[in-house]
Amino acid sequence: MRYRAIILASVMALAFENASAQTLDQRAAATAAAMTPAERDNLAHGIMAIPFGGFTAVPPEATLGAGYIAGVPRLGVPALRESDASLGVAWIGGLRHDGATALPSGMALGSSWDPDLERAGGLVIGAEAKAKGFNVLLAGGGNLVRDPRGGRTFEYLSEDPLLSGTLAGAAVAGVQANHIISTLKHFALNDQETARHSVDVHISDAAARESDLLAFEIEIERSHPGSVMCGYNLVNGAHDCDSDYLLNQVLKRDWGYKGFVMSDWGAVPGLQAAQHGLDQQSGSQLDAQVFFAQPLLDAAGKDQTMNARLTDIATRVMHSVYYAQLDPNQHTSNYDEKSHLALAQQAEASGVVLLRNQNDLLPLAKPKKIVVIGGYAAYGVISGGGSSQVQGKTGPAFTVPVYGPSILGGINGPEYLPSVPLDAIKARAKSTDVTYRGGDYIAEAVTAAKSADVAIVFATQWSSEGYDEPDISLPNGQDALIAAVAAANPHTIVVLETSGPVLMPWLDKTAAVMEAWFPGARGAEAITSVLFGDVNPAGHLPVTFPASLAQLPRPKLDGLDTIEPDFTGTGSKTNVPVNYDIEGSDVGYRWFVRTHAKPLFPFGFGLSYTSFTTDGLRLEQQNGKLVALAMLHNTGKRTGSGLVQLYVTDRAGKKGERLAGFEKLTLQPGDGTEVTIPVDARLLADWAGKNWHVAAGSYSFALGSDASTLSAPISIKLDDQTLAP
Ligand code: GLC
Repeated sequence: MRYRAIILASVMALAFENASAQTLDQRAAATAAAMTPAERDNLAHGIMAIPFGGFTAVPPEATLGAGYIAGVPRLGVPALRESDASLGVAWIGGLRHDGATALPSGMALGSSWDPDLERAGGLVIGAEAKAKGFNVLLAGGGNLVRDPRGGRTFEYLSEDPLLSGTLAGAAVAGVQANHIISTLKHFALNDQETARHSVDVHISDAAARESDLLAFEIEIERSHPGSVMCGYNLVNGAHDCDSDYLLNQVLKRDWGYKGFVMSDWGAVPGLQAAQHGLDQQSGSQLDAQVFFAQPLLDAAGKDQTMNARLTDIATRVMHSVYYAQLDPNQHTSNYDEKSHLALAQQAEASGVVLLRNQNDLLPLAKPKKIVVIGGYAAYGVISGGGSSQVQGKTGPAFTVPVYGPSILGGINGPEYLPSVPLDAIKARAKSTDVTYRGGDYIAEAVTAAKSADVAIVFATQWSSEGYDEPDISLPNGQDALIAAVAAANPHTIVVLETSGPVLMPWLDKTAAVMEAWFPGARGAEAITSVLFGDVNPAGHLPVTFPASLAQLPRPKLDGLDTIEPDFTGTGSKTNVPVNYDIEGSDVGYRWFVRTHAKPLFPFGFGLSYTSFTTDGLRLEQQNGKLVALAMLHNTGKRTGSGLVQLYVTDRAGKKGERLAGFEKLTLQPGDGTEVTIPVDARLLADWAGKNWHVAAGSYSFALGSDASTLSAPISIKLDDQTLAP
């Protein structure tokens, strides 16, 4: 009975969507047809609405932010006012003299494995964007973390296509629930920052479809983003924004995408990109020419194909304007900052991953004396640099100037948010003597650690758009500091505030380690709530932590030692080939399993203050769809959220490991619940040139507490199956 109601509801929803889609498509086509060619052309290019570096003056009707595209007032088509980005409304150096709620980093959001939380985060940042007058949020960081040194790892969600697709899809759906447009970016394979305009990714169609493209495909299915932003890099010799393969064949033909493709800022190589699927030139003053203004209009006037393309561009933009139900009379408004900050704190608390907890030192039980060491923990928490940088209205607590003068001025080093761990710990442990040492003098920190019951060392690793990290070691001598403090105090806790995976040469000397990523606007409060057990940690790693760079497909990041680091990524005048066919679609844990490498911490790893077991895995066909069912038990003494991870480990004889599904839920001590996990057949399939192919044969599945710790597999025979792209 339960299923019949669900089926009826979904059939009705589909019928409505199709009906409204025809109406929506018809409306979009009609409005585009009513436009003059010049009006259509207006929708094909925009400027960066930030007055710096002598760039174009910003029109008074624009809102200071990433982008502005004039509308067509005659037809009620609003201008598009664009802001960055995935972690909140970008601060742009304080130019608007306002602030916004900084969510914790994508890695923290990814560690939650919680689509509902992701959606709630999107709802919050979309509401703030709309309240500030924006109707496009350039959010939806959908790239896979293919390299742990990637400078934008903190903007992305995971190394796995199913996890990234599910979570990014939820985030974009949340943003668009505000009736504004969200992007999904950076399409595609834009997985390193070094020489980001010249990196030429070599990868087979099948490997791309089964990894990075599958993440985007799932994201688009789940969120219908109004726009997809193509990236800076090249794929097999063509720039993302000029790639007929990516934009026309994969995105528009195979996936049937009806929205519009906007370029990244300064990513358009020429007018020919219009014929290869690009619809809108963003930040056009950054390109050699505004190709999608007069040159496009002239071409449309001379050539019927280009004229039809221009109409298609306008139709696609209108499709997204109508799908999102943009308000032509949108005005600025207020929003509930308090509840938004509470969500940011909840998101960080859900994303903290407990990596080590010897003798259950955590949660802390009112120690008499705590010394807090390093990580600027007396001043704030670290945040990521670049276009996605968010700050509150008071701006950064401080900036550590490490990069010297740079093209964007403010991008000169780590900005810290004014959420202060030392203050939060003092407020939570009022009867405890809590002191602080900066950690710049190890001897001083050691002395303090020796006389404390507990030492909490905060360690930071900054990263930014435009730059990759040269390695995954903690910078600034923090490893030596941690090792010395841990040697001085057996109750040493390390709180990592890092962009992504890091090495931990001191791990065995410590009592407890938690990964807090870039903690967001209420990060200190969230970390403290986990330290003292107000929150039971339930984060699980969304990326593999390597034991060494030698374990990676590319131990040396291509271009890192030959190209001058440069935010604009234009440091190289020649293409920099990168061979992703080494690992192909075996990104992250899939590669570690294939090469039998033992990571420092595996994908999916995460401890709790309680304990969970899973059992009773079985597979069934329900309404022609494969589902897995399993029991989750809370075998500990505290309420907690457990994560059931389902992996496929043998695909008709093809060994390997792919996450095939997951489910997270909260259980009281002693409780047990059966979860049902639908299996997306594409994860069982190989890309076979024009569609997906699930070969007939035996398929083995196992439950995992992480990618390296699997239950005994069970198998099921599947018939031969072909799936449309
Ligand atoms: C960029 C980024 C992109 C951002 C855009 C606008 O350089 O790659 O993520 O949305 O510019 O700021």
